[in-house]
Amino acid sequence: MSLTTEYSLKIEKCSQSKIQQVDFDNLVFGTVFTDHMFECDFKEGAWHNPTIKPYGPLTMYPSAKVFHYGQAVFEGMKAYKDSNGAVFVFRPEQNAKRINKSSKRLAIPEFPEDLFMEALEKLIALDKDWVPNKSGSALYIRPFVIATENCVSASPSTAYKFMIILCPVNAYYSGKLKVKIAEKYSRAVDGGVGFAKAAGNYAAQFYPTNLAKDEGYQQVIWTDSVEHKYLEEAGTMNVFFRINDTLITAPTNERILDGVTRKSLIQLAEHRGISVEVRKISVDEIIEAHTNGALKEIFGSGTAAVISQVSGFSYKDQFYDLPEVEDSYAVSLKQEMFNIQYNLKEDPFGWRHKIV
Ligand code: COI
Repeated sequence: MSLTTEYSLKIEKCSQSKIQQVDFDNLVFGTVFTDHMFECDFKEGAWHNPTIKPYGPLTMYPSAKVFHYGQAVFEGMKAYKDSNGAVFVFRPEQNAKRINKSSKRLAIPEFPEDLFMEALEKLIALDKDWVPNKSGSALYIRPFVIATENCVSASPSTAYKFMIILCPVNAYYSGKLKVKIAEKYSRAVDGGVGFAKAAGNYAAQFYPTNLAKDEGYQQVIWTDSVEHKYLEEAGTMNVFFRINDTLITAPTNERILDGVTRKSLIQLAEHRGISVEVRKISVDEIIEAHTNGALKEIFGSGTAAVISQVSGFSYKDQFYDLPEVEDSYAVSLKQEMFNIQYNLKEDPFGWRHKIV
């Protein structure tokens, strides 16, 4: 099926920019949005009217399916500005493909990858002044799809809205994270939607994460849902463990998101000669490694945080501290990512996608 026929992307510019009202030094993540957004509607079997327009509210009926069944998927990406004012997006083609994998699992029609890229490029180019030019800051890009059919029967919607909104952001986490290893709750199950960026995956994390926060932790390290034995993800991130000088991360599967930052870090680490093992890793293994001094680092990886270091973890009411190491892989790999993302060094992998 052809998902879209001929299209020409329309641009309706706002009459006055809001940028002067924004305090770029004190941005609260995800609360400030740029002047424009992209919108495209699916009905009668095809995507129609791709339009960039002023950022503003949507008018929807309360019967829209997204409100009842959570038929929604999203992506997270970032645009970076270099010292000459050039703007780059990090590996956007990966997100254009992944949103369609998520959509397929949620019975949402795929969005044409070429239109995804065109909308992204034109929208960011239009709002390029909003891309912060400070290290650690970026323009967070949120593409998403929601089910808009006005009908509360529990079946896939016949109408959808694909949108892209943009927000300038500073660092996602301000310091290291204290985390709790999940013993009861799970993020994902075999045969489920864990690999997809389905909105509901994130909503389902809020309650167990709040319980962990009440105990003084910032995030949960999710374990497998059958035995709570294997370590899978950390909060909204993939997770890496450094035992001696080897980095270990769980293989992607039905339960684990195929993170763009995760796979980029694996490539960067291997390129540097660090030994990387993509395999199952158990709670017992990291506790044993901690006991004999071999567990050097734990860190999460994701678009929002890039790399987020863990200062310690708790399991079965015991806390395991992770003191700072001198030759931290988290610190040096994050700097190498920044070198590519902010155009500070060469990009041997071709990951930077220039916008303007
Ligand atoms: C990411 O870092 O990739 C995310 O999806 C974070 C987002 C949920 C804020």
